[in-house]
Amino acid sequence: MTIPTITLAHGAEIPAIGLGTWPLQGAEGATAVRTAIEAGYRLIDTAENYRNEEAVGQGVRDAGIPREQIFLTSKFNRQWHSVDGARQAAEASLRRLGVDYLDLLLIHWPNPDQGTYVQAFEGLLKLLDAGVVRAVGTSNFKPAHLQNLIDATGTVPDVNQINLNPYATRAATAAFDNEHGIVTQSWSPIKSAEMRVDPVLVGIAEAHGRSTAQIILRWHVQHGYIPIPKSANPQRQLENLAVFDFDLAGDEVATIDALDQGEANVADSDQIGH
Ligand SMILES: NC(=O)c1ccc[n+]([C@@H]2O[C@H](COP(=O)([O-])OP(=O)(O)OC[C@H]3O[C@@H](n4cnc5c(N)ncnc54)[C@H](OP(=O)(O)O)[C@@H]3O)[C@@H](O)[C@H]2O)c1
Repeated sequence: MTIPTITLAHGAEIPAIGLGTWPLQGAEGATAVRTAIEAGYRLIDTAENYRNEEAVGQGVRDAGIPREQIFLTSKFNRQWHSVDGARQAAEASLRRLGVDYLDLLLIHWPNPDQGTYVQAFEGLLKLLDAGVVRAVGTSNFKPAHLQNLIDATGTVPDVNQINLNPYATRAATAAFDNEHGIVTQSWSPIKSAEMRVDPVLVGIAEAHGRSTAQIILRWHVQHGYIPIPKSANPQRQLENLAVFDFDLAGDEVATIDALDQGEANVADSDQIGH
């Protein structure tokens, strides 16, 4: 299966869906990454904080396809929020993954209490110039955090990865991203078991002869978001990838949009982060 790609602000091509890897670790993590790549995944999402970059690197090597055909994303923690810290974080991720460049490196949380995410982003831009990373980004950034980056550097991140699904549609952040040419990635895109049995989603799934997970993932794709569902199960990995051979109608997308429950269940990144 060939996965469509999206062109990012700094020119990299990113697959339109990826594999999440939290909380996979060790041999289970390496196997999940290998089976996902064998199924057709080309975007793999990891982070310093997941303590699984070694396993992810092993899985990529075990899959046996050329490194340049894989889009590898990692993220770094608050202790590296400085220009030189971003460099150190990148070097440590490269070492753990066993690769010599990253496709995308994200500031995992803004941590505004620390007040140095702008410096972390400046560090990312140096890494971009040096070719250590192909794209730079943020995670859990609100519009105000992104505006601070843009004001300070005149540059947008390629990607903003946020908690986004039909119960938390994040309209304001997604609109800000879109207006500024930032691609939105969705974490926990299908996680809620309650959401996966929502009668509205089940009804649309039955109409298309698809699973509710596929309907939700297709909704992300049609919005232009990049979902990164995690599954260690090869059958569900395949199921989650098979969302490029059907379309939701405009009214179905709008019906799913209307399931939004607001920001109440979304972690407030002005208050928490690591
Ligand atoms: N940037 C951040 O701050 C942040 C935070 C959290 C997560 N993330 C990233 O986002 C990724 C995805 O988020 P997530 O893992 O929280 O949630 P998710 O991918 O939306 O959901 C994962 C859960 O759904 C199950 N599942 C997967 N496919 C399914 C299907 N087709 N039918 C039924 N159940 C299915 C998985 O179980 P099985 O494995 O048994 O299939 C797992 O329990 C993470 O893995 C991580 O890479 C980023």
